[in-house]
Amino acid sequence: MFGIAKNFVTVFIAVGLLSGSAAYAASDVLKLRMGAGNLGTGKSKSELCQGCHGEVGISVDEMAPNLAGQYAYYIAKELRDFQSGARTHEIMSPVATTINEAELIDIANFFANQKIMQGDHPGGNPEGERIFLKGDAPRKIPACETCHGVNGKGKAPYISTYPVIGGQNKEYLRAQLLNWRSGKRANSPGGMMNMVAKPLTNAEIEALAEYISGL
Ligand code: HEC
Ligand code: HEC
Repeated sequence: MFGIAKNFVTVFIAVGLLSGSAAYAASDVLKLRMGAGNLGTGKSKSELCQGCHGEVGISVDEMAPNLAGQYAYYIAKELRDFQSGARTHEIMSPVATTINEAELIDIANFFANQKIMQGDHPGGNPEGERIFLKGDAPRKIPACETCHGVNGKGKAPYISTYPVIGGQNKEYLRAQLLNWRSGKRANSPGGMMNMVAKPLTNAEIEALAEYISGL
């Protein structure tokens, strides 16, 4: 049983890395910076976003995700997904279509370079911690840490694939896990997050949201 689950994880990691590899830019000076974007204009252009995502990417609304320290490639991918309709949301879909590609890159770089989001209750949920670190092999739930990194702080800044989730807002995390499980959100490469979330119970989603938001 464990072997099957392990293969499952390996396959999806491979899919993820393949789909993200074209975006590598290891020579960039700033760790999280992407393309030729300008942080100064990113700051001024992000005014449109600050009402919900905060001045430095720490959201003022629990349903809006923190963007501080999120990877630029991931922020950009999500904005393009909102523009194309690959991801939909009543607020973000119309907002994303008001910015052009240059603005999108500047804003993504600006938020990526802010002090990374931080939770305030580390280790707050043992059940969430267990799934995050070990998964549940017989039920084909992979360890979240495998793709989201130690403490959910991400593991691959130069690709769009694996976002930072540690320290993200609890309400937002819960909503996204429910959306992955139901299929309402289906924009992860190879559908990997839908497969990850499918076996999770409501109680496990609650435990994970509690644990991850504290990191
Ligand atoms: C009126 C509130 C509001 C405004 C203004 C707003 N957002 Fe959002 N944003 C949200 C909400 C709510 C979500 C969560 C969407 C969901 O649940 O799928 C979100 C999601 C996102 C995400 C996805 C992040 C992730 O972790 O997947 C990005 C990126 C984003 N917003 C960027 C922006 C940018 C850039 C702007 C400005 C151009 C902006 N937002 C303006 C409310 C807002
Ligand atoms: C096989 C790799 C993989 C594993 C394992 C994995 N994830 Fe993910 N996760 C992803 C990818 C890729 C995305 C980004 C999807 C996209 O492109 O929008 C993601 C996105 C997310 C998001 C949305 C983040 C945001 O800002 O919107 C949450 C929440 C999340 N994962 C939680 C989890 C939890 C909880 C677990 C463990 C039960 C887990 N993930 C295991 C690959 C993985």
